Amino acid sequence: MSDVADRTFEETIARHDRIEPRDAMPDDYRHTLIRQIAQHAHSEIIGMQPEGNWITRAPSLRRKAILLAKVQDEAGHGLYLYSAAETLGVSREELTRNLLTGAQKYSSIFNYPTLSYADVGTIGWLVDGAAICNQVPLCRTSYGPYGRAMIRICKEESFHQRQGYELLATMMRGTDEQRAMVQESVDRFWWPSLMMFGPPDGDSPHTAQSMAWGIKRHTNDELRRWFVDMTVPQAEALGVTLPDPALAWNAERASYDFGEPDWDEFWAVVKGDGPCNAQRLAHRQQAYDDGAWVREAALAFAEKAGDEG
Ligand SMILES: [Fe+2]
Ligand SMILES: [Fe+2]
Repeated sequence: MSDVADRTFEETIARHDRIEPRDAMPDDYRHTLIRQIAQHAHSEIIGMQPEGNWITRAPSLRRKAILLAKVQDEAGHGLYLYSAAETLGVSREELTRNLLTGAQKYSSIFNYPTLSYADVGTIGWLVDGAAICNQVPLCRTSYGPYGRAMIRICKEESFHQRQGYELLATMMRGTDEQRAMVQESVDRFWWPSLMMFGPPDGDSPHTAQSMAWGIKRHTNDELRRWFVDMTVPQAEALGVTLPDPALAWNAERASYDFGEPDWDEFWAVVKGDGPCNAQRLAHRQQAYDDGAWVREAALAFAEKAGDEG
Protein backbone atom coordinates (compact mmCIF):
# COMPACT_ATOMS: atom_id res chain seq x y z
CA MET A 1 0.00 0.00 0.00
CA SER A 2 1.25 3.51 -0.79
CA ASP A 3 1.73 6.00 2.04
CA VAL A 4 -1.26 8.00 0.82
CA ALA A 5 -3.52 4.92 0.73
CA ASP A 6 -2.23 3.93 4.14
CA ARG A 7 -3.07 7.34 5.56
CA THR A 8 -6.53 7.35 3.96
CA PHE A 9 -7.22 3.95 5.55
CA GLU A 10 -6.03 5.08 9.01
CA GLU A 11 -8.09 8.27 8.79
CA THR A 12 -11.22 6.40 7.79
CA ILE A 13 -10.79 4.06 10.76
CA ALA A 14 -10.13 7.01 13.10
CA ARG A 15 -13.35 8.74 11.95
CA HIS A 16 -15.28 5.49 12.60
CA ASP A 17 -16.29 5.50 8.93
CA ARG A 18 -16.67 2.37 6.86
CA ILE A 19 -14.02 0.77 4.68
CA GLU A 20 -15.64 -0.37 1.43
CA PRO A 21 -14.57 -3.20 -0.94
CA ARG A 22 -12.83 -0.91 -3.46
CA ASP A 23 -10.89 1.05 -0.83
CA ALA A 24 -7.23 0.28 -0.29
CA MET A 25 -6.69 -1.72 2.88
CA PRO A 26 -3.70 -3.44 4.51
CA ASP A 27 -3.33 -7.15 3.68
CA ASP A 28 -3.53 -8.08 7.35
CA TYR A 29 -6.84 -6.23 7.72
CA ARG A 30 -8.22 -8.07 4.69
CA HIS A 31 -7.04 -11.46 5.96
CA THR A 32 -8.32 -10.88 9.48
CA LEU A 33 -11.73 -9.99 8.07
CA ILE A 34 -11.82 -12.98 5.74
CA ARG A 35 -10.99 -15.26 8.67
CA GLN A 36 -13.60 -13.70 10.96
CA ILE A 37 -16.44 -13.39 8.41
CA ALA A 38 -15.79 -16.92 7.10
CA GLN A 39 -15.86 -18.36 10.60
CA HIS A 40 -19.09 -16.49 11.22
CA ALA A 41 -20.65 -17.71 7.95
CA HIS A 42 -19.61 -21.32 8.63
CA SER A 43 -21.16 -21.07 12.12
CA GLU A 44 -24.51 -20.04 10.66
CA ILE A 45 -24.46 -22.97 8.22
CA ILE A 46 -23.22 -25.65 10.63
CA GLY A 47 -25.53 -24.17 13.28
CA MET A 48 -28.52 -25.37 11.25
CA GLN A 49 -27.71 -28.99 12.12
CA PRO A 50 -28.28 -29.28 15.89
CA GLU A 51 -31.75 -27.74 15.63
CA GLY A 52 -32.53 -29.20 12.21
CA ASN A 53 -32.25 -32.53 14.03
CA TRP A 54 -35.62 -31.80 15.68
CA ILE A 55 -37.69 -30.47 12.77
CA THR A 56 -39.31 -33.81 11.99
CA ARG A 57 -40.05 -34.40 15.68
CA ALA A 58 -41.50 -31.00 16.66
CA PRO A 59 -44.29 -31.42 19.24
CA SER A 60 -46.87 -29.37 17.30
CA LEU A 61 -47.44 -27.76 13.93
CA ARG A 62 -46.85 -24.32 15.48
CA ARG A 63 -43.49 -25.37 16.96
CA LYS A 64 -42.52 -26.95 13.67
CA ALA A 65 -43.32 -23.78 11.70
CA ILE A 66 -41.30 -21.65 14.15
CA LEU A 67 -38.33 -24.01 14.07
CA LEU A 68 -38.36 -24.28 10.27
CA ALA A 69 -38.40 -20.49 9.95
CA LYS A 70 -35.56 -20.17 12.42
CA VAL A 71 -33.33 -22.74 10.74
CA GLN A 72 -34.03 -21.14 7.34
CA ASP A 73 -33.03 -17.75 8.76
CA GLU A 74 -29.66 -19.24 9.72
CA ALA A 75 -29.13 -20.40 6.13
CA GLY A 76 -29.87 -16.84 5.00
CA HIS A 77 -27.36 -15.46 7.52
CA GLY A 78 -24.72 -17.80 6.12
CA LEU A 79 -25.42 -16.55 2.60
CA TYR A 80 -25.23 -12.82 3.52
CA LEU A 81 -21.94 -13.48 5.25
CA TYR A 82 -20.41 -15.56 2.44
CA SER A 83 -21.31 -12.69 0.10
CA ALA A 84 -19.64 -10.20 2.44
CA ALA A 85 -16.50 -12.37 2.53
CA GLU A 86 -16.50 -12.61 -1.29
CA THR A 87 -16.20 -8.81 -1.54
CA LEU A 88 -12.72 -9.26 -0.02
CA GLY A 89 -11.57 -11.34 -2.98
CA VAL A 90 -12.08 -14.87 -1.70
CA SER A 91 -14.32 -17.27 -3.65
CA ARG A 92 -17.26 -19.21 -2.31
CA GLU A 93 -15.58 -22.43 -3.54
CA GLU A 94 -12.52 -21.68 -1.48
CA LEU A 95 -14.55 -20.83 1.62
CA THR A 96 -16.50 -24.07 1.35
CA ARG A 97 -13.29 -26.04 0.90
CA ASN A 98 -11.78 -24.36 3.96
CA LEU A 99 -14.78 -25.36 6.05
CA LEU A 100 -14.78 -28.96 4.84
CA THR A 101 -11.03 -29.46 5.30
CA GLY A 102 -11.08 -27.83 8.73
CA ALA A 103 -8.75 -25.01 7.59
CA GLN A 104 -11.35 -22.53 8.87
CA LYS A 105 -13.35 -23.03 12.05
CA TYR A 106 -16.94 -22.48 13.13
CA SER A 107 -18.29 -21.79 16.60
CA SER A 108 -17.63 -24.71 18.95
CA ILE A 109 -21.12 -24.50 20.42
CA PHE A 110 -22.43 -26.42 17.39
CA ASN A 111 -20.27 -29.42 18.25
CA TYR A 112 -22.56 -30.25 21.17
CA PRO A 113 -25.53 -32.58 20.63
CA THR A 114 -29.23 -31.69 20.98
CA LEU A 115 -30.76 -34.38 23.19
CA SER A 116 -34.31 -33.13 23.81
CA TYR A 117 -36.80 -30.61 22.42
CA ALA A 118 -35.95 -28.34 25.35
CA ASP A 119 -32.58 -27.86 23.60
CA VAL A 120 -34.38 -25.97 20.81
CA GLY A 121 -35.54 -23.48 23.46
CA THR A 122 -32.19 -23.35 25.23
CA ILE A 123 -30.29 -22.77 21.99
CA GLY A 124 -32.64 -19.91 21.08
CA TRP A 125 -32.41 -18.37 24.54
CA LEU A 126 -28.70 -18.86 25.33
CA VAL A 127 -26.91 -19.49 22.03
CA ASP A 128 -28.80 -16.90 19.97
CA GLY A 129 -28.69 -14.64 23.06
CA ALA A 130 -24.89 -14.91 23.15
CA ALA A 131 -24.79 -14.40 19.38
CA ILE A 132 -26.75 -11.15 19.82
CA CYS A 133 -24.24 -9.85 22.40
CA ASN A 134 -21.44 -10.62 19.94
CA GLN A 135 -23.22 -9.30 16.89
CA VAL A 136 -24.89 -6.06 17.95
CA PRO A 137 -21.52 -4.27 18.26
CA LEU A 138 -20.53 -5.76 14.88
CA CYS A 139 -23.26 -3.65 13.23
CA ARG A 140 -20.73 -0.82 13.74
CA THR A 141 -17.73 -2.77 12.52
CA SER A 142 -15.36 -0.90 10.22
CA TYR A 143 -15.90 -3.04 7.10
CA GLY A 144 -19.06 -1.88 5.29
CA PRO A 145 -20.44 -5.13 3.81
CA TYR A 146 -19.92 -6.98 7.11
CA GLY A 147 -21.62 -4.27 9.19
CA ARG A 148 -24.60 -4.07 6.84
CA ALA A 149 -25.02 -7.86 6.84
CA MET A 150 -24.97 -7.77 10.65
CA ILE A 151 -27.79 -5.20 10.81
CA ARG A 152 -30.10 -7.53 8.90
CA ILE A 153 -28.97 -10.57 10.84
CA CYS A 154 -29.45 -8.97 14.27
CA LYS A 155 -33.11 -8.24 13.57
CA GLU A 156 -33.70 -11.94 12.99
CA GLU A 157 -31.56 -13.02 15.94
CA SER A 158 -33.82 -11.21 18.36
CA PHE A 159 -36.76 -13.26 17.05
CA HIS A 160 -34.64 -16.39 17.56
CA GLN A 161 -33.87 -15.48 21.14
CA ARG A 162 -37.49 -14.71 21.96
CA GLN A 163 -38.87 -17.88 20.41
CA GLY A 164 -36.40 -19.88 22.52
CA TYR A 165 -37.35 -18.07 25.70
CA GLU A 166 -41.05 -18.46 24.95
CA LEU A 167 -40.64 -22.20 24.37
CA LEU A 168 -38.82 -22.61 27.69
CA ALA A 169 -41.37 -20.43 29.52
CA THR A 170 -44.16 -22.64 28.16
CA MET A 171 -42.39 -25.79 29.32
CA MET A 172 -41.73 -24.27 32.74
CA ARG A 173 -45.50 -23.77 33.14
CA GLY A 174 -46.04 -27.44 32.26
CA THR A 175 -45.37 -30.65 34.18
CA ASP A 176 -42.55 -31.48 36.58
CA GLU A 177 -41.08 -33.64 33.87
CA GLN A 178 -41.02 -30.72 31.41
CA ARG A 179 -39.40 -28.45 34.00
CA ALA A 180 -36.74 -31.10 34.59
CA MET A 181 -36.09 -31.28 30.83
CA VAL A 182 -35.52 -27.52 30.71
CA GLN A 183 -33.17 -27.59 33.69
CA GLU A 184 -31.19 -30.51 32.28
CA SER A 185 -30.84 -28.69 28.96
CA VAL A 186 -29.72 -25.43 30.58
CA ASP A 187 -27.17 -27.39 32.67
CA ARG A 188 -25.60 -28.72 29.45
CA PHE A 189 -25.64 -25.48 27.45
CA TRP A 190 -24.69 -22.85 30.02
CA TRP A 191 -20.91 -23.29 30.01
CA PRO A 192 -20.55 -23.86 26.25
CA SER A 193 -22.59 -20.65 25.77
CA LEU A 194 -20.09 -18.69 27.88
CA MET A 195 -17.30 -20.20 25.75
CA MET A 196 -18.91 -18.69 22.62
CA PHE A 197 -17.22 -15.37 23.44
CA GLY A 198 -13.82 -16.98 22.91
CA PRO A 199 -10.88 -17.41 25.25
CA PRO A 200 -10.15 -14.96 28.08
CA ASP A 201 -8.67 -11.66 26.90
CA GLY A 202 -5.18 -12.71 28.03
CA ASP A 203 -5.28 -15.71 25.66
CA SER A 204 -6.86 -13.94 22.70
CA PRO A 205 -3.96 -12.94 20.45
CA HIS A 206 -6.02 -11.16 17.76
CA THR A 207 -8.18 -8.96 19.99
CA ALA A 208 -5.90 -5.90 20.32
CA GLN A 209 -5.28 -5.57 16.57
CA SER A 210 -8.95 -6.22 15.71
CA MET A 211 -10.00 -3.47 18.10
CA ALA A 212 -7.43 -1.03 16.72
CA TRP A 213 -8.92 -1.64 13.25
CA GLY A 214 -12.46 -1.18 14.47
CA ILE A 215 -13.38 -4.75 13.47
CA LYS A 216 -14.15 -5.67 17.09
CA ARG A 217 -15.61 -3.06 19.43
CA HIS A 218 -15.39 -4.97 22.75
CA THR A 219 -13.13 -7.67 24.20
CA ASN A 220 -14.25 -11.27 24.75
CA ASP A 221 -14.44 -10.84 28.52
CA GLU A 222 -16.49 -7.63 28.25
CA LEU A 223 -19.01 -9.34 26.00
CA ARG A 224 -19.15 -12.40 28.25
CA ARG A 225 -19.91 -10.21 31.29
CA TRP A 226 -22.58 -8.33 29.33
CA PHE A 227 -24.20 -11.66 28.40
CA VAL A 228 -24.20 -12.93 32.01
CA ASP A 229 -25.71 -9.67 33.29
CA MET A 230 -28.44 -9.87 30.68
CA THR A 231 -29.19 -13.57 31.21
CA VAL A 232 -29.30 -13.99 35.00
CA PRO A 233 -32.56 -12.02 35.47
CA GLN A 234 -34.10 -13.97 32.57
CA ALA A 235 -33.13 -17.27 34.26
CA GLU A 236 -34.78 -16.03 37.46
CA ALA A 237 -37.94 -15.11 35.57
CA LEU A 238 -37.99 -18.55 33.95
CA GLY A 239 -37.36 -20.30 37.26
CA VAL A 240 -34.25 -22.21 36.12
CA THR A 241 -30.95 -22.44 38.00
CA LEU A 242 -27.76 -21.57 36.15
CA PRO A 243 -25.19 -24.28 37.01
CA ASP A 244 -22.53 -22.00 38.50
CA PRO A 245 -22.12 -21.88 42.30
CA ALA A 246 -19.86 -18.82 41.95
CA LEU A 247 -22.63 -16.75 40.35
CA ALA A 248 -23.38 -13.77 42.66
CA TRP A 249 -24.34 -10.11 42.37
CA ASN A 250 -21.42 -7.77 42.91
CA ALA A 251 -22.90 -4.49 44.13
CA GLU A 252 -19.60 -2.65 43.83
CA ARG A 253 -19.26 -3.37 40.12
CA ALA A 254 -23.06 -3.44 39.58
CA SER A 255 -22.53 -6.69 37.68
CA TYR A 256 -22.49 -10.45 38.35
CA ASP A 257 -19.43 -12.41 39.43
CA PHE A 258 -19.28 -15.81 37.79
CA GLY A 259 -17.08 -18.88 37.53
CA GLU A 260 -14.50 -19.80 34.92
CA PRO A 261 -15.54 -22.07 32.02
CA ASP A 262 -13.44 -25.21 31.52
CA TRP A 263 -10.95 -23.85 29.01
CA ASP A 264 -9.35 -27.27 28.48
CA GLU A 265 -12.71 -28.48 27.19
CA PHE A 266 -12.98 -25.36 25.01
CA TRP A 267 -9.59 -25.95 23.34
CA ALA A 268 -10.30 -29.68 22.91
CA VAL A 269 -13.54 -28.88 21.05
CA VAL A 270 -11.84 -26.18 18.94
CA LYS A 271 -9.16 -28.72 17.97
CA GLY A 272 -11.78 -31.20 16.77
CA ASP A 273 -12.42 -33.38 19.82
CA GLY A 274 -15.93 -32.22 20.72
CA PRO A 275 -18.81 -34.67 20.89
CA CYS A 276 -20.10 -33.92 17.36
CA ASN A 277 -17.23 -32.37 15.32
CA ALA A 278 -16.83 -35.34 12.98
CA GLN A 279 -20.58 -35.77 12.56
CA ARG A 280 -21.14 -32.07 11.72
CA LEU A 281 -18.46 -32.00 9.03
CA ALA A 282 -19.48 -35.36 7.55
CA HIS A 283 -23.07 -34.13 7.31
CA ARG A 284 -21.96 -30.88 5.64
CA GLN A 285 -19.76 -32.82 3.18
CA GLN A 286 -22.70 -35.07 2.31
CA ALA A 287 -25.00 -32.08 1.74
CA TYR A 288 -22.31 -30.49 -0.46
CA ASP A 289 -21.90 -33.66 -2.53
CA ASP A 290 -25.66 -34.12 -2.85
CA GLY A 291 -25.94 -30.53 -4.12
CA ALA A 292 -23.39 -30.97 -6.93
CA TRP A 293 -26.07 -31.41 -9.61
CA VAL A 294 -27.77 -28.17 -8.53
CA ARG A 295 -24.52 -26.21 -8.92
CA GLU A 296 -23.87 -27.81 -12.31
CA ALA A 297 -27.40 -27.10 -13.52
CA ALA A 298 -27.23 -23.48 -12.31
CA LEU A 299 -23.94 -22.93 -14.14
CA ALA A 300 -25.25 -24.53 -17.34
CA PHE A 301 -28.37 -22.37 -17.13
CA ALA A 302 -26.33 -19.20 -16.59
CA GLU A 303 -24.16 -20.03 -19.61
CA LYS A 304 -27.20 -20.67 -21.76
CA ALA A 305 -28.89 -17.48 -20.60
CA GLY A 306 -25.63 -15.64 -21.38
CA ASP A 307 -25.54 -17.07 -24.93
CA GLU A 308 -29.06 -15.98 -25.61
CA GLY A 309 -28.68 -12.53 -24.04
FE1 LIG B 1 -27.87 -16.53 12.74
FE1 LIG C 1 -29.99 -17.31 15.20
